Amino acid sequence: MTDTYRNIPSLSERYRPYFRIGAAVNAKSLNTHRDLLVTHFNSVTAENEMKWEEIHPEQDRYEFAKADALVNFAREHGMFVRGHTLVWHNQTPAAVFLDDLGQTATAAVVERRLEEHVATVLGRYHNDIGCWDVVNEAVVDAGTGFLRDSRWLQTLGDDYIAKAFRIAHQAAPDALLFYNDYNETKPDKSERIYKLVAGLLDEGVPIHGIGMQGHWMLDDPALDEIERAIDRYASLGVRLHITELDVSVYGNVHGTGGQSQEVLPYDDELAKRLAERYRSLFSLLRARKDVIESVTFWGVADDDTWRDNFPVRGRKDWPLLFDVNHGPKQAFWSVVEF
Ligand code: GLA
Repeated sequence: MTDTYRNIPSLSERYRPYFRIGAAVNAKSLNTHRDLLVTHFNSVTAENEMKWEEIHPEQDRYEFAKADALVNFAREHGMFVRGHTLVWHNQTPAAVFLDDLGQTATAAVVERRLEEHVATVLGRYHNDIGCWDVVNEAVVDAGTGFLRDSRWLQTLGDDYIAKAFRIAHQAAPDALLFYNDYNETKPDKSERIYKLVAGLLDEGVPIHGIGMQGHWMLDDPALDEIERAIDRYASLGVRLHITELDVSVYGNVHGTGGQSQEVLPYDDELAKRLAERYRSLFSLLRARKDVIESVTFWGVADDDTWRDNFPVRGRKDWPLLFDVNHGPKQAFWSVVEF
């Protein structure tokens, strides 16, 4: 950060009366984005470093160094840490579901492994991590099905989600436990998420919140769709976190789902449209501050964003509030000046 940027208001201070402001970080960005992180954010999430394949790459081997570095950084700067994530169909070693002969492991074996993993990871960070995304992306996107046909479902059966929450609660009784998903505002999918969480609550499963990932676009989802999803989830009486916010400048133009190959020039016009989008999003989020406890961006500045490779590989995107040189964008001012 150059000196020019030192006198701008702090995002997280501005939002203190509303909700925490978080960022996903990685081993590199803890250094490269250090100044921005310390000034503008009061919560962090590990982009990858706490996922099973990274923190527990082999049955008998844990790799805590990167996660430790993140937790130490957070402690040093008084930041909240969101743990991400325990049970997911991605970034989990195939070996978790296999026995010594390479055959599908039994439910009992997989459950024991899950208990051991959760007890180890949550135990290690019980003083530092206030909440966990216990289960990530477990319902289907479309069609008539309900739960995603993952290895977890196949080996542990339909109640694997309830089990995961119970196991997490036992390992860290004080941690807030979340279900986290994407496309979380789409009418069909948000009904599935609602039904899943309502069912868990009915069964007395220890679940405390819903993580709305918030990988949104310039023009999609519509604001009223987001509002409806927030209100529907809030009606369950759980806490809401926006967990992975970024706004791709590639809109859902002509129903392309943001997949057009053309690289847009990031000119004033686009910067302004992004700022308007962020302005209306944050004005909605502020109006729901009673239920929204935290808003985490999936990244810090536009020089390091997964959106450069998703959904189109190698297509530069500008989804965050800070530019590639770590300066505040118009979008920054649009959420800070209100
Ligand atoms: C999902 C996951 C995140 C991350 C993003 C893409 O949303 O929850 O951990 O992998 O995809 O970066």
